Amino acid sequence: MTNIAKGLEGVLFTESKLTFINGSEGILTHLGIPIQEWAQSSTFEELSLALLNGQLPSAAELAAFDAHLKANRAIPEKLVEEIASFPRTVAPMQALRTAVSYLGLFDPQAEETSEAARRDISIRLIAQFSTIIAAIARSREGQPVVAPRSDLTHAGNFLYMLTGKEPSAEQTRLFDIALVLHADHGMNASTFTAIATSSTLSDMYSCVVSAIGALKGPLHGGANEAVMDMLDEVGVPEKAEAYINAKLDAKEKIMGVGHRVYKYFDPRSRVLRDYAEVVANKEGKSNYYQILETIEKVVVDRIGSKGIYPNVDFYSGTVYSDLGIGKEYFTPIFALARISGWCASVMEYARDNRLLRPDAVYTGATDAHYVKLQDRI
Ligand code: ACO
Repeated sequence: MTNIAKGLEGVLFTESKLTFINGSEGILTHLGIPIQEWAQSSTFEELSLALLNGQLPSAAELAAFDAHLKANRAIPEKLVEEIASFPRTVAPMQALRTAVSYLGLFDPQAEETSEAARRDISIRLIAQFSTIIAAIARSREGQPVVAPRSDLTHAGNFLYMLTGKEPSAEQTRLFDIALVLHADHGMNASTFTAIATSSTLSDMYSCVVSAIGALKGPLHGGANEAVMDMLDEVGVPEKAEAYINAKLDAKEKIMGVGHRVYKYFDPRSRVLRDYAEVVANKEGKSNYYQILETIEKVVVDRIGSKGIYPNVDFYSGTVYSDLGIGKEYFTPIFALARISGWCASVMEYARDNRLLRPDAVYTGATDAHYVKLQDRI
């Protein structure tokens, strides 16, 4: 009998030096360094460069990269106008997919696929994703688009462009940590999609637009928004236990838990939980955190034995929500971070490219013959 790896589970199709995951022990490292250390000591800018280069940068390299990002934050005015003209009803991920594709039209290097060109485009994309997403959010909310500043960090500038207000150092740091936690995650569906597109020797913009489409789905990047929908549906902490028990009894999936690779706590969810707890205790305002605590307990008690534990999306929404970000922008914010992983993975795979072309076991009809339309019953 032929074995089919449904969902490509456990299929090894390439080598990578970027990210290691041990799903049974809940370990995640980038370049061998634990995610907890990246979150505690690094920044999104540094991790992005480390992923692109495959090694920790020197101080001079990081300063040059940071300057390069800052110099590339602005997007073409025509694109700002286009974004402002998108129907308000358009989902932000639809808008992002379209805007990034449109951005490529203005890039004279867009069709180049050399390592140097891919790198230049990657830096621009990392810088400009932020401006595009903030412009999409502002336009959807009927607010004027805020131009980027070059005196703020990547995280701080995004929050500034999103809200029109300069964020506090604490808010900036919290958001930066969220970006670090989401920057890369091995061969997840969107990174794999980016690589599949790249393997045909297609261009960087096509790779990233494909990846945005893959990230958009609720089984991947869309889960963080779905978690917030669930929290709003639960409403108050007292109702959480009965709500989740009913869902599990009905064999419904709980959003923000379960993962193809992690069969134990996703380490990113632990880092975010700690921050969510600090914010909840400090502000004393969030029902969300208390609801999540209860859901986590019920899930782990009831289906932890199946390897179902909170994933990164479980707590990320409350952190964003505490930063005043609307839930419809959570998935674009995931993309804002994951653009680094997409670009770094595409570049790594391109160095030893082989067209991705899996196969399927054919189970359809055999020995059939064409029947003319008028003869079909
Ligand atoms: N809630 C309840 N039960 C679950 C869940 C869940 N979220 N996820 C899996 N299970 C159960 C399945 O029903 C199955 O039970 P069974 O053996 O009794 O039939 C068992 O756990 C194994 O589940 P699979 O579907 O085989 O696991 P798979 O690896 O295919 O699914 C996935 C992974 C798609 C992420 C799934 O856990 C899910 O849908 N989670 C909710 C969506 C989500 O949070 N996605 C974000 C993932 S992380 C990210 O992309 C950043």
